[in-house]
Amino acid sequence: MCGIFAYGSFLRERDRKEICEILCNGLARQEYRGYDSAGIGIDGDKPGEVLFFKEVGKVAGLRQRIAESKVDFTKSFISQVSIAHTRWATHGVPSYVNCHPVRSDPNNEFVLVHNGIVTNAAELRLVLQKRGYKFESETDTEAVAILIKYVYDSQPDKRITFTELVKTVLKELEGSFAFVFKSIHYPGELVTARRGSPLLIGVKTEKKLKVDFVDVEFANQESENKVIDPLSPASPGGLLAPPSAGPKIMRTQSRAFMSEDGLPQPIEFFIASDASAIVEHTKRVLYLEDDDIAHIAAGELHIHRLRRNEDGVQTPSTRSIETLEIELAEIMKGKFDHFMQKEIYEQPESVVNTMRGRVNFDTHKITLGGLRAYLPIMRRCRRIVFCACGTSYHSCLATRAIFEELTEIPVSIELASDFLDRKTPIFRDDVCVFVSQSGETADTILALRYCLERGALCVGVVNTVGSTISRETHCGVHINAGPEVGVASTKAYTSQYIALLMMALQLSEDRISLTERRNQIIEGLHQLPSQIKTVLAADRSLQSFADGVLATSKSLLLMGRGYQHATVLEGALKIKEISYMHSEGILAGELKHGPLALIDQNMPVIIIMTRDSLYPKVQSAFAQITARRADPIVLCNDGDDGIPEGVKTIRVPQTVDCLQGLLNVIPLQLLSYHLAVKKGFDVDFPRNLAKSVTTE
Ligand code: F6R
Repeated sequence: MCGIFAYGSFLRERDRKEICEILCNGLARQEYRGYDSAGIGIDGDKPGEVLFFKEVGKVAGLRQRIAESKVDFTKSFISQVSIAHTRWATHGVPSYVNCHPVRSDPNNEFVLVHNGIVTNAAELRLVLQKRGYKFESETDTEAVAILIKYVYDSQPDKRITFTELVKTVLKELEGSFAFVFKSIHYPGELVTARRGSPLLIGVKTEKKLKVDFVDVEFANQESENKVIDPLSPASPGGLLAPPSAGPKIMRTQSRAFMSEDGLPQPIEFFIASDASAIVEHTKRVLYLEDDDIAHIAAGELHIHRLRRNEDGVQTPSTRSIETLEIELAEIMKGKFDHFMQKEIYEQPESVVNTMRGRVNFDTHKITLGGLRAYLPIMRRCRRIVFCACGTSYHSCLATRAIFEELTEIPVSIELASDFLDRKTPIFRDDVCVFVSQSGETADTILALRYCLERGALCVGVVNTVGSTISRETHCGVHINAGPEVGVASTKAYTSQYIALLMMALQLSEDRISLTERRNQIIEGLHQLPSQIKTVLAADRSLQSFADGVLATSKSLLLMGRGYQHATVLEGALKIKEISYMHSEGILAGELKHGPLALIDQNMPVIIIMTRDSLYPKVQSAFAQITARRADPIVLCNDGDDGIPEGVKTIRVPQTVDCLQGLLNVIPLQLLSYHLAVKKGFDVDFPRNLAKSVTTE
């Protein structure tokens, strides 16, 4: 949902060509976050001046525009700051003028890139228009660009620091954001801030750093009160009152980056929404917290807080530099045509990575280190509430039955957006589990904060280390599936599924009566990677289904029950999101209550009939649809001779009932992939979607 990238280099000579290359690469790595348009803003010839390149569409188009430009790309800079953005439109259609960086005025006095939504942008726009400011775009971001210019214009002596200026503006904003600001008035400086949208800063130096953390400056109350807020009606400088004295300049106490010998050294900063854009430059990163404002200038990074914590949540007073664990190769496509295809094929390894060091196949013991201290509370809770969106929600659904069976704790499953709409009652003795690949989904984060406020134990199950959900939950499990770039989630689903299953296994380890069942599941987990390889090996036959009748079908129904209900929902989601074909996952038990009316010889159906205790019931669903002349494709186990002669089948190995969904989902992932390729759609960048949904 929009990708931000910014680059500051100090005492490190770079020419414009290199700078554009670094920015475009940073955007290309984050293109999955938004791909309606892309743009960059780099230093012009005069100090602080900004040169824009923008293009509607993909980063490749932006590269082309840059290549065709007559700008002098050989001009080099000892130090420079530049910003970049890839957009997923929220306010205003994809167009040149709505493309970021967004500017405050035709002289580009202030330019910025934004991820998130400013929900009071319309009000700000009205107030600023009344003050004579002109808008050129439909974006919410432009209200912020013009507001910062307005605040600057209101300062009589213009002695306000860039950080103070941004701080004053941010206090007026509602909604979620991650910003990077650049200005003609502050050459060589960048200010970046976040609230609700992810942001991290990579730091690259040649010599070792003297410190590997940054102190956060907490403004003292007295000086904070003296800052004039031009938008506040109560303030003498408010928008509704004429501006007067400028705000007090705050002195930062935060630590600068120096080499061990204390001398200035070449240093580069990379600001991004996602670590994948940084890892090729440096693995040393620092994650910003909500309401942090970071200022980069003259090779130094200082972090300030927008406000004191009002909610009692203690924000640490330092931001440590952490080392990223991802490798560049993990975020490259390699021999595959698409990221989605690569990620489907990675599943034999990604499931192993999820279990690595956690499942002991000899002793049948499960150890989820992140939960250990919280197990007694979890075992005593009165219910477990799973909360997630989309595919992550399906992984919760897929594991609910086994979770309840093993733990005997009631489990409820919530779609995060609906959970908030309903203001669901949550109590101190509830355990709430937030499942998210990105760890940045706005609805899930809001649901998490809602549960934190109500005193529940909050557990995260996330893929992205350092993400908001992983930081704000009390404890959790990283699924370790590796970076997932394809917008359609695949390997994250199977890893979430296993992580939740491991959680249930660990919670139930003291139940002697369940030993046999637990051992059977753990043995099943052991076999899983090789069984996934077997499923992947049958890919060609799935391609033939996609090339055949399904390619021209308008709709596809998927049916299953019990453990396979989640599988058909997930399969249908995959098909609709990348092949734009109507597809519905139907609980086979519900057929006779409505969906059966859809069935005739023209309606394509896939029915899951793998062997478990519900097999006879699914056989009866099969009979009901074939009696209405449907010609279903049956997803069944290898060697199952109960399937009538002549029926088209997709065969998968058999495993333990509660693990079968892990194998069954893979042919559906592959089928959706082949359908999208066959139809000529952009598999990794499906229309209207973004990987990380950081807006409500
Ligand atoms: C579907 C898909 C989405 C996400 C959903 C939640 O393929 O990717 O449905 O699963 O947006 O995202 P996370 O898991 O990042 O919270």
